[in-house]
Amino acid sequence: MKNQKLTQAKINAYDEFYTQRKTIEKELKYYTEQFRNKVIYLNCDNPLKSKFWQYFYDNFHNFKLKELISSHYCENGSFSMSYDGDFEKVKSLKNGSFNDIECFELLERADIVITNPPFSKFREFLRVLLVMNKDFLILGQVNMLSTKETFKHYKMGLFKLGYNFNLNTPFDTPFKKEVAMGGICWMTTLKMQEDIKEINFIEYDEQRYRKYDNYDAININSIREIPKDYKGKMGVPITYLKYHNPREYKIVGADFELIDEHRFILDGKRMYMRVVIEKIC
Ligand SMILES: C[S@@+](CC[C@H](N)C(=O)[O-])C[C@H]1O[C@@H](n2cnc3c(N)ncnc32)[C@H](O)[C@@H]1O
Repeated sequence: MKNQKLTQAKINAYDEFYTQRKTIEKELKYYTEQFRNKVIYLNCDNPLKSKFWQYFYDNFHNFKLKELISSHYCENGSFSMSYDGDFEKVKSLKNGSFNDIECFELLERADIVITNPPFSKFREFLRVLLVMNKDFLILGQVNMLSTKETFKHYKMGLFKLGYNFNLNTPFDTPFKKEVAMGGICWMTTLKMQEDIKEINFIEYDEQRYRKYDNYDAININSIREIPKDYKGKMGVPITYLKYHNPREYKIVGADFELIDEHRFILDGKRMYMRVVIEKIC
């Protein structure tokens, strides 16, 4: 029993990071036109606490929303709340889990899912949205992209990375203490303004770039070091994904997809995750 409680506490502590209003405003301001006449579903949000709920409730008429729905997880009984601009409706739910049948019914009604889901269940959460073919804008961590399934979905173009990427972001916690977390990013299927940054700055120099011991590609440590005239494979940090231009570069794969050892080795040293790219033209 004691152990069970401890495990539960550990799981919850990893998931209980509440998004602050300024984090929400900083990203959502780019998509407000796309919210018009839409049913927005916050499926990991207690409306009595969530800043996502607060943000959409305050802007309901401004954004011309059709409906706002929110549900949240509580093992021993939960509730959903919906708002149509005039009235709020509350309905009790068995547990409010995003993958429970009652929440699937709410999901079916929704046009766009927006939330910060539990980090520990991220893969399952994303799978549900993709299977249900829903538009979404969700907050996560860059390292969530380093799992095989999520990276595969990104590579297939099923979602993009939002405007704010790889940030050090403050969250509220149940302990009333603000905690900052690194590598925070948004993932979305919503339309984005094309925001391709010029990243080709320098020329290839054979002396400067080294090939991995266990894969035929040169190593690049920072985005600015990508040589504009190199035609072979290059291993770049995951932060490259924010700047990826599919018309200019092809994503060959992530290190864990390409070699059995999972990570590239350079001069005997194991590297951090690398994504392999190749120039198209
Ligand atoms: C990272 S927190 C973010 C909460 C809120 N969305 C926000 O942005 O402030 C994720 C929340 O999901 C809840 N959660 C855990 N398992 C869940 C599930 N199966 N379904 C829905 N929510 C869940 C956690 O209790 C936690 O409150």
